[in-house]
Amino acid sequence: MAEHTPTHPVGGTPPGFLEPLELLYEEAGQPRFRLPPALATAYGGDLGFTLPCVYANFVASIDGVVALGPEYPSSGSAISGRKSADRFVMGLLRACADAVLIGAGTLRATPRHRWTPDHVCPQAAPDFAELRRSLRRAAEPELVVVTASGDVPTEHPALQSGALVASTVDGARRLDGRLPAACTVLTAGEGSALRMADVLAALHAHGHTAVLTEGGPRLIGHLLGEGLLDELFLTTSPVLAGRTDTSRPGLIAGLALLPNRPAWTDLISARRQDSYLFLRYRLRTPHAHDGLQAAP
Ligand SMILES: NC(=O)c1ccc[n+]([C@@H]2O[C@H](COP(=O)([O-])OP(=O)(O)OC[C@H]3O[C@@H](n4cnc5c(N)ncnc54)[C@H](OP(=O)(O)O)[C@@H]3O)[C@@H](O)[C@H]2O)c1
Repeated sequence: MAEHTPTHPVGGTPPGFLEPLELLYEEAGQPRFRLPPALATAYGGDLGFTLPCVYANFVASIDGVVALGPEYPSSGSAISGRKSADRFVMGLLRACADAVLIGAGTLRATPRHRWTPDHVCPQAAPDFAELRRSLRRAAEPELVVVTASGDVPTEHPALQSGALVASTVDGARRLDGRLPAACTVLTAGEGSALRMADVLAALHAHGHTAVLTEGGPRLIGHLLGEGLLDELFLTTSPVLAGRTDTSRPGLIAGLALLPNRPAWTDLISARRQDSYLFLRYRLRTPHAHDGLQAAP
């Protein structure tokens, strides 16, 4: 459980000459992890979570595109323009997490990525390490990959350095003997999709209570469909992506919410750097009887 303390002025030099984010709004009474001063300066204040928590982090264009389509690998970087402030926030959110949860589509689309704080913001590595020590987290968050098919690129550097691969019985059979020795397979159900509640229960049993998901859109659809997402961090990148007839999904794929199942949110905080917005939302809990939420 995070401590609740009043906001206080932050000190410290931001790592690697990162320009601090400007805090535009923050709801009172937020949990605070007491970030190392350099991180608090760069983030424009403290950050924390009430645990257990499942929080997502995405970057989207102004017109709501999060992926440019299968022919463009690593499209998140294209959408963010590799903005250093976005990479810092990505690193900071990873540094707070016990586990980073992704779908196999994101793994396949991002061939050289590693889902660690240092990979996206190496200049803050010592400060991320200090934060993880203070939170009594392992040196790095555990990568968790969800796949029904078991069709994952076993040569991927993120798998080579060790991950938990959650799959169905059929998928686990397909993975048998193919994964690097550093990986563990979690068999969490039959059929074409795993119940994400089962996956999260297994993660909690491993002691993982701060779970960051970096998507992609289909995994977010499954998490929202089961009412399991607590918070969303969304970077709005000041770019228009556009669409022709190719698939360019928004944040959620495979699940329709409006008009019958609206997922209303509350804004927790808003930060800015240049023309980028860094928004943090809390998902409201649906009414148990019908999955509907009251409008704001
Ligand atoms: N802008 C951003 O911030 C951002 C963030 C993340 C990803 N992306 C982009 O999104 C694109 C990928 O989109 P996507 O929707 O395909 O990604 P995804 O959600 O990461 O992957 C979908 C795949 O994950 C597995 N999966 C998801 N939920 C599952 C469940 N409940 N049970 C079993 N398996 C499950 C399935 O794998 P199998 O097919 O193996 O069964 C499914 O086909 C990429 O272009 C990526 O770059 C953008």
